Amino acid sequence: MKKTCVIGWPIEHSRSPLIHNYWMNHHGIASFYERKPVEPSHLHEFVRGLPGSDYLGCNVTLPHKKAVLSFLDEVDERTHKIGAVNTISVRGGRLIGTNTDGEGFLNNLKQSGIALNYKTLDAVILGAGGAALAVIAALLEKNVRRIRLINRTMERALAIRETFGERVEPVPWARQPEVMSDCGLLVNSTSLGMHGQPALAIDLRGLPQTSVVTDLVYVPLETDLLAEARRRGNPVVGGLGMLIHQAVKGFELWYGVRPEVTPELYDIVARDIVAGYHR
Ligand SMILES: NC(=O)c1ccc[n+]([C@@H]2O[C@H](COP(=O)([O-])OP(=O)(O)OC[C@H]3O[C@@H](n4cnc5c(N)ncnc54)[C@H](OP(=O)(O)O)[C@@H]3O)[C@@H](O)[C@H]2O)c1
Repeated sequence: MKKTCVIGWPIEHSRSPLIHNYWMNHHGIASFYERKPVEPSHLHEFVRGLPGSDYLGCNVTLPHKKAVLSFLDEVDERTHKIGAVNTISVRGGRLIGTNTDGEGFLNNLKQSGIALNYKTLDAVILGAGGAALAVIAALLEKNVRRIRLINRTMERALAIRETFGERVEPVPWARQPEVMSDCGLLVNSTSLGMHGQPALAIDLRGLPQTSVVTDLVYVPLETDLLAEARRRGNPVVGGLGMLIHQAVKGFELWYGVRPEVTPELYDIVARDIVAGYHR
């Protein structure tokens, strides 16, 4: 059977092979998922060559998620709005692109046992990059009441309101403490707090104890934001589950089986991040 891969530049850090090869093994599928370094200057050639290649499809990571859009034959409406693709499948010689981050985000919350009443939810999202766009699209599809969007570069937040409409309210970073009191879901979708990046400086004092706090960053597994929220008694959800859940759709598209996100798989990927990890 043909294989699958993740393309990026660089790509050595990707943990996607651990996830997909685990599922293949589990389902007895004779295929293989590999890391494929693709330089930006070779992106067009690689993607347009997929239909005649050994690949059923691929995942797409930095820096190609936006650039790849214009090389595809078909992209769903949500992915168009997000402006970034993380999954490509080949169907009848055509290249179909989608973005599965939003589904990964919601299913991670769900599997963590978080039951949110989306229709009455006020969310606060930090960050306005590609990941934030996917989360915003997913939350709006769930009919959330309002999303306060806080970003260092205000123009990016304003542009997102233009695309997604009035329920997205851009808020300057300096006013973050003021929007905590009616926040039911706080999401960090900046790269702050990630290993090797600056810390995320945020004031949680006004945040109700019942608010769910989630971080898309998963290296470290428990960021300072999550640790502080946990200390205050807030329910917290880490980003690694989202990474695993976003992979489900791609596997299903390529291999025709919807795989499960099991505690065993979570632990395998977690141990790749923290040696000796155990829950
Ligand atoms: N768990 C998962 O499955 C998953 C999936 C996707 C992404 N992620 C993680 O989510 C994070 C964001 O990814 P992305 O693809 O959205 O990246 P991106 O498009 O590069 O966006 C980065 C965001 O972080 C902000 N930022 C960066 N440095 C900052 C600083 N020094 N001060 C304030 N804000 C800063 C940027 O603000 P400006 O607009 O002002 O530059 C922007 O909002 C990354 O850590 C990534 O690993 C996780």
